[in-house]
Order: sequence, then C-alpha cells, then structure tokens
Amino acid sequence: MDTKILKANPDGFAIASEILKSGGLVAFPTETVYGLGADAFNTKAVAKIYSAKKRPNFNPLIVHVIDLETAQKFVYLDADALLLANNFWPGPLTIVAPIRAGSNLSELITAGLDTIAIRVPAHPVARKLLEIFNGPVAAPSANPSGSISPTNASHVKNGLNGRIHAILNGGKCNVGLESTIILSQNEECHLLRSGGIPEKNIEEILGYKLLSNKHPISPISPGQLSSHYAPNAKLRMNAQSASEDEYMIGFGHIIGQLNLSSKGDLTEAASNLFSYLHMADEDTLTLGKTKIAIAPIPMNGLGIAINDRLKRASSPRD
Ligand code: TXA
Ligand code: MG
Repeated sequence: MDTKILKANPDGFAIASEILKSGGLVAFPTETVYGLGADAFNTKAVAKIYSAKKRPNFNPLIVHVIDLETAQKFVYLDADALLLANNFWPGPLTIVAPIRAGSNLSELITAGLDTIAIRVPAHPVARKLLEIFNGPVAAPSANPSGSISPTNASHVKNGLNGRIHAILNGGKCNVGLESTIILSQNEECHLLRSGGIPEKNIEEILGYKLLSNKHPISPISPGQLSSHYAPNAKLRMNAQSASEDEYMIGFGHIIGQLNLSSKGDLTEAASNLFSYLHMADEDTLTLGKTKIAIAPIPMNGLGIAINDRLKRASSPRD
C-alpha cells in the first residue's frame, strides 16, 4: 500500500474522510500527538489499527468525537466527569466512563471492558476531519506499538509507511504529550495516565485529589507494557552530563546536543520531548554513540507526565 500524504485543505479532508468511510486508516494531527484513525463503528477498520501498529489486542482505544453532546451518545458522564468535560474539552483530556448500551461502537475498541475512553480534540485539523467525516473516530497514537509517539507527519511516515492509507499533514503537535486519562466511576475520578493537562489543574476543578491508578476495575492500565514510548537507543534519566558514548539532551542550564527548553519551561519541553527523542535516535547512529542521556526534569506540572514517559522509555526492553 502506498501511504499518501494529504494536505490539510478541502481536497485533503475529503480524501481522508472517504478513506475512513471506506474502512481505511488515516493518521491525523491532534494537539497532543498524531492519532491513527479508523471509523469507530467499523470493526474491520478498527482491526486494521491493531495490525498496522502491531499492537497487542488487549489494549483498548480512545474514541475521538467533535463535542460533548456527541460523547454523551456513547458514554455516561456523571457530575464530576461533566465538570471536567466542560472545563477541558476540547483539549488534551481523555475520560474513561461506562459505555452506553446501544452505542454501536466496535467491540474491538473496548477490548472487552465495559467502559470507553473518549476525548474531544482541540486541533483544528482533527476537528475539521471529525466534522467532515461526521462520526466517531477510534485512534491510538500513530506509531508502531512500543515506540515513541509521533508529533509530526514525518514521524508517522517513518514508523508506519506502507501500512496505512494516508497521513493528514497538520504540522507539529503543540502539546507534544499524550492526553491525561481520567477514569470516572462511582462519582470518583482516578488518574490512569498523566499527560497534557497537569493533575493539579484537574484537581483544582474537582476540588479533591485524584485517586491513583490502582483501581481494581481497570486491569488494563495504560502504558502497562514496560518498554512503552521507547527510542531505539538506551536512555539514562537525571543525567548531569553525558559520558563519551552518550548523546545528551539538556534542560535549562544543563546543556546537550539538544535542549528541551533552555529557559526551563516545561510546556516547551513537553512539546519538544518526542521529536527530540526521535532526533536523538537518528543522531546517535550518525555520531557513533550508543545511548541517550537526559537532564533532570522537575517533578511538577507537565514535568510529571514528562518523567513518566522518560521512565517508560528508559525501562528494560522485552
Ligand atoms: O493524546 C492521546 O491520548 C492520543 C491522541 C491520538 O488522542 N492517543 C493515545 O492513544 O495516546 P493510545 O492508544 O496510544 O493510548 C491510549 C491509552 C492506552 O494505554 C489504553 O490502554 C488506554 O488509553 N485506554 C483506552 N481505553 C481504555 C479503557 N476503557 N479503560 C482504561 N484504559 C483505556
Ligand atoms: Mg500510544
């Protein structure tokens, strides 16, 4: 299969929507990372996501919809979930909530759970695609399973070329980290994955602390696989400097071949994180290095999600 790169113009949107309607796969930009989209009603199409990504079948998918009203056709949102939706949608928040009977979503999306992960993206290209396609789009991040999430169209092409029908090019994703995932259950909210919206901001709206992700009804906790978000080269965190065989990614005053944010700005660091890991991966080879060292990132705000991704990226590989 020849993977087409589509421009985000009327022709591009029309072709992308046609591909989705006919059961194909289209990668598209969201404000967090690129998603690999399929028609969420079409099980054959959803199955193609798993095979294109070589993703283990037990990992459920996020459904992307145009607005809160549409989301409520598919899930039950209680008062707290509604509060979060009203405050953070459109935006990088995913809510996992009980699926509505008769939702007609493909069973492959839930991987056997009785909940659905749903979100309303803010990126104008994602929104235009949802509007023209006029239906729910199931989409995981558009990378081969276990590797770094893509934050531009060429990352997607490098990872999935020939395995998907098209990539809708919307430039660089400005958040750069996947969405924060909240499980809303029995009038309580649990954090399943830290991400583009810091926990603190969510807790401020809720008026209480999020419960941790050890919730018994969610045996499938996101990013369970140990080598999630991994670059090819080995990664060492909290490095003050690099050894000879290491490629250095700096932060703040700690310098390196690349610097996530020389101002020490965590929002800027988050938006650069995955593309710098992609770049570092390529550059380690050319520079004859074997590892990547990365400077300490403070554990507050978006730093929590950044450290979570780095921890997974540096954990032992299968
Ligand atoms: O920012 C994002 O969230 C991006 C963009 C494309 O929307 N998507 C993304 O999808 O990161 P993915 O598939 O790479 O990660 C979604 C996570 C998975 O770890 C999955 O286990 C979890 O969401 N998940 C999906 N449905 C779930 C459910 N019903 N219960 C618990 N976890 C769920
Ligand atoms: Mg992913």
